[in-house]
Amino acid sequence: MISFIKKIKKLLQRFAGRSEPEERRLRTLYNRFADSPEGAHIISWRDARKLHQAIQQYAPRRVLELGTGIGAASAVIADALPVGGMLTTMEQNEKCVRIATTLIPHGLQKNMRIVRSEAYAFTVSGLPTGLYFSGYKTIPTKNGPFDFVLVDGPAGWVENGAPVKYTNGDLIMLIPHLAPGCIVYIDGRKTAVKIYLQFFADYFSLVSETPWYTLLKRTDAPARDIHSLHFSDIRV
Ligand SMILES: C[S@@+](CC[C@H](N)C(=O)[O-])C[C@H]1O[C@@H](n2cnc3c(N)ncnc32)[C@H](O)[C@@H]1O
Repeated sequence: MISFIKKIKKLLQRFAGRSEPEERRLRTLYNRFADSPEGAHIISWRDARKLHQAIQQYAPRRVLELGTGIGAASAVIADALPVGGMLTTMEQNEKCVRIATTLIPHGLQKNMRIVRSEAYAFTVSGLPTGLYFSGYKTIPTKNGPFDFVLVDGPAGWVENGAPVKYTNGDLIMLIPHLAPGCIVYIDGRKTAVKIYLQFFADYFSLVSETPWYTLLKRTDAPARDIHSLHFSDIRV
């Protein structure tokens, strides 16, 4: 029975395109974060493997991560980047930035910019009233156009003593800064996915989805700036 399970594991690894030593190396990297006392909110091991595989497959040169946290997914992305690739990763929480800077191996930080930004709430004119979004105030779009985006933040925050948590809307603001063919990996956040596919169908198509994440692809529909976006209204 045990040898049968081992065989299945090996088959799965081969399917994911990684040899056993490579898989162990990735697991060791992941465990730096999983074993941290602050590691409760990191990407799951299953999704970390998928993310690593996706970066290897699409070989993006300019990657944006929304939600560095303590840096688990940032390290996984940086590990899989092609030569010359660069990751920009955004985080609102100073403590997280400090921990990420300590935990992410220095060699991997060479191809990475960790950018701290406040999170904020906003609406998008042209969309139904009452739809509020959260996002990062200062995304360095000069580091784009991006070929791959991981959406895994911002977290909720406290304003005037009350918790604030809205659907991620950064992706809407980013449409003009995504290269045609850009892959967007959305961790959870099914409400956000629904909104993107309903109102921004000109700009995103569905690649694949599981209960845990969704992959979208930026179409080649031009978007000069945020004010020139065309809103669809497709029930999804
Ligand atoms: C789902 S987490 C991001 C996880 C990250 N992409 C990773 O895989 O390591 C979303 C947000 O939660 C917050 N967060 C995560 N870990 C935290 C911690 N230990 N303490 C405070 N905030 C945390 C950060 O603001 C982060 O951007």
